[in-house]
Amino acid sequence: MASVILGILLILVPLPLSTEAQTSGNLTLGKSLTANDQNSSWLSPSGKFAFGFRRMGRGAHLLAIWFEKIEDKTIVWSANGNNLAPEGSEIQLTTDGRFVLVDPNGRELWSPSPTVAGIAYAAMLDTGNFVLVSQNHVNLWETFSQPTDTLLPTQQLDQGTKVNARYSEMNYSAGRFHFKLGDDGNLAFYATPDPWVASDTYWDSNTSNGFRLIFNQSGQVYLTDRNGALLQVVSSDTFPASGYYRRAILEFDGVFRQYVHSDSSSLSEMGWVVARSSPVPPNICTSITQTMGSGACGFNSYCSLEEDQRPRCHCPHGYTLLDSTNEMNGCRQDFVPQSCDGSRPETDQFTFFSMPYTNWPMSDYERTAAQTEDSCKEACLADCFCALAIFGDNGNCWKKKIPLSNGREDRSDIAKALIKVRINDSTSKSIGNGSKNSTLIIIGLVLLSSSVFVNLLLLLITYLIYRSFRSRDSKLSRPVQINQATGTHTFTYQELQEATDGFKEELGRGAFGTVYKGVLRYEDTNFVAVKVLATRTGESEKEFEREVSAIGQTNHKNLVQLLGFCNEGQHRLLVYEFMSNGTLADFLFGISRPSWYKRIEIACGVAQGLSYLHDDCTRHIIHCDIKPENILLDGSLTAKISDFGIAKLLMANQTRTVTGVRGTRGYLAPEWFRNMPISSKVDVYSFGILLVELICCRKNYEPEAEIEAQIVLVDWVYDCYHDGSILKLVESDEEASTDIKRVKRFVMTALWCIQDDPALRPTMKKITQMLEGVVEVLVPPVSSSFISSI
Ligand SMILES: *[C@@H]1O[C@H](CO)[C@@H](O)[C@H](O)[C@H]1NC(C)=O
Ligand SMILES: *[C@@H]1O[C@H](CO)[C@@H](O)[C@H](O)[C@H]1NC(C)=O
Ligand SMILES: *[C@@H]1O[C@H](CO)[C@@H](O)[C@H](O)[C@H]1NC(C)=O
Ligand SMILES: *[C@@H]1O[C@H](CO)[C@@H](O)[C@H](O)[C@H]1NC(C)=O
Ligand SMILES: *[C@@H]1O[C@H](CO)[C@@H](O)[C@H](O)[C@H]1NC(C)=O
Ligand SMILES: *[C@@H]1O[C@H](CO)[C@@H](O)[C@H](O)[C@H]1NC(C)=O
Repeated sequence: MASVILGILLILVPLPLSTEAQTSGNLTLGKSLTANDQNSSWLSPSGKFAFGFRRMGRGAHLLAIWFEKIEDKTIVWSANGNNLAPEGSEIQLTTDGRFVLVDPNGRELWSPSPTVAGIAYAAMLDTGNFVLVSQNHVNLWETFSQPTDTLLPTQQLDQGTKVNARYSEMNYSAGRFHFKLGDDGNLAFYATPDPWVASDTYWDSNTSNGFRLIFNQSGQVYLTDRNGALLQVVSSDTFPASGYYRRAILEFDGVFRQYVHSDSSSLSEMGWVVARSSPVPPNICTSITQTMGSGACGFNSYCSLEEDQRPRCHCPHGYTLLDSTNEMNGCRQDFVPQSCDGSRPETDQFTFFSMPYTNWPMSDYERTAAQTEDSCKEACLADCFCALAIFGDNGNCWKKKIPLSNGREDRSDIAKALIKVRINDSTSKSIGNGSKNSTLIIIGLVLLSSSVFVNLLLLLITYLIYRSFRSRDSKLSRPVQINQATGTHTFTYQELQEATDGFKEELGRGAFGTVYKGVLRYEDTNFVAVKVLATRTGESEKEFEREVSAIGQTNHKNLVQLLGFCNEGQHRLLVYEFMSNGTLADFLFGISRPSWYKRIEIACGVAQGLSYLHDDCTRHIIHCDIKPENILLDGSLTAKISDFGIAKLLMANQTRTVTGVRGTRGYLAPEWFRNMPISSKVDVYSFGILLVELICCRKNYEPEAEIEAQIVLVDWVYDCYHDGSILKLVESDEEASTDIKRVKRFVMTALWCIQDDPALRPTMKKITQMLEGVVEVLVPPVSSSFISSI
């Protein structure tokens, strides 16, 4: 069910638009825009915001304001969500000074309210405010005072202004959630369009003199009194004041959240990030207990706050979603309710599912005393009206009837829900997870009976034995090294120039410099890779050599061995063993798909190499740039991490803020963008991305992907995991699809690695154990980035 919402969120990247900027600056009378596929927006002077038409579907256009420079073109205001405009509709700034949206037949679809006349010009401002201005330069009307669901920095709301959530993520009709700064000075959130009882709020500021709600440029949303004095901070983000786009929105789930988005194009891949401190209310599931209305979710469903702090709506056993595309629309019974015909009581036709920590406050119709859970069930069974009983602690048994409202999961609630469900003889469907389990069993049976599976199992066992022998081998016989305890070999520049034949054969080029193939005269057999570092000033000779010798001392079968270096004046070069099979990127994303078992070995190898770098070697090294291009493969396709230690070597003094971001887009952990301390967990994050790429044999980011949901691999992986359709990820890969249990374990491990919160990511040591199946991989928490990177 959660995945439905996720799915919807992921599709949010809107329908293809081709918005051509027409004008920036003041819009004079007589201007108009037509709802078609082209040229349908007016930009603000800096091009940050656009006002115009957004195509929401075939022949359905939304008059809106959006962030023009953000790929998502996130909408921040809209006029006609309830009444989309057909193709050919026009928004007109008429010559007689009115502003009106008309359909192709000239019928008015929307106009500002209250009615505005005497407009002299209009303007889309760089703040995101669209204004209609009089001859005397007075703002007659502005979108900032008529918000839909979003507030922007510098926006101020006066008493009486309503902010209304949309109906669903993609449907801009007004939903039921809204908030309002009332005449009584209280900022109140409501879950029904027309509250029956004024006190049926789910969040209150409890202020009596709130006069204005302000969202200021540094990311604080706060209430002030009539004199402008600060009364209460409603929510805030902790990001630097500049360098970010911001918005605060009452989302369709009823929660008010603040989002930030880097305004630097190189970092925009992160998308919108939700400010952790902001959600209001913090737990909407337990905040809503209304006398009327369904609660945070729809009728008969229950709400639970997931790890990402977002509410999800679920159906109890025996119930399914009324509308499979919108989990917030409630659930219906899958079965015929109990007959109330006294002569056929049907008491043997029903059973109970017990749901701890779940409750539906306010839909009780009777309380009976019951000493035990069983007697509470009996009481409910004997009553045809009873759909559910709550068994409380003090011998209370609360009977509830359909529709159930205010459903929530609440870990602090000791009461237990006992839901009454008809026993269905045709065991195949209808109740709870039954269907999923049975398909699993079927898959299991098919696998077991297939000889391919048996063969693969044998292969796997052989491989495991082989590997254990080999790893023992490699511990016994290390390759010959130039640099023993004394440190690394020092080369002269001339030696290396000769070794590479004047730097003739280029092997690769990276952020840190260019790599050439060479051969050392006195090393008869071995080729070497000579990396010419981008020169850097300010680093003392001693420091450089100390770092290089630290790198030289690292010694692990999954690390590229540093053989020596050269440090002569401007020239700084590193000499590595040569890896004949090139980079993992070429291997993985090339024409033919590498074997699944090889990929497993590579994943485990990289994990072990990283684990060694982080924990085992004398100097704890953070790689900072784990990606397939930096994993090399030797003659026997053993994965070896290259370029470790260089981040430190070359950028030791860099600040750890957004400006100091190093590494590669797409593999970067969120800390890089968040002014947070950098730890070895950044490598864990990058490894997680690498791991999904290894599983699926494709790049994480594939803008050309046919299916939109598959453009960002981790998002798709995440979806598939939550849908229970992991098989889809490796559909065309026979080896992997017959090893689906391991695929699942790897996927879960990867989802742990890419947690937003570095503290949640396991250490690399733990990850090697997870990959090898030595420890159980728990269900990964939902990472907020999947939801907030809209
Ligand atoms: C728009 O009109 C106002 C008032 O006449 C003027 O101050 C402002 O500079 C104009 N802006 C542009 C971009 O022309
Ligand atoms: C719309 O944009 C296209 C391409 O930029 C341009 O050729 C055309 O003249 C524009 N049409 C209008 C009505 O501005
Ligand atoms: C949005 O939801 C409303 C309420 O269910 C519905 O009437 C309307 O047709 C929906 N709009 C779109 C564009 O799907
Ligand atoms: C407002 O008062 C209610 C009831 O006392 C309380 O639960 C809630 O936390 C208060 N809200 C704020 C923002 O303090
Ligand atoms: C925003 O409001 C907060 C709280 O009043 C204040 O500390 C901060 O300085 C304000 N920032 C700006 C840019 O006004
Ligand atoms: C029992 O399950 C079958 C198969 O899913 C379904 O068609 C039928 O409606 C169910 N019967 C009742 C009484 O719920």
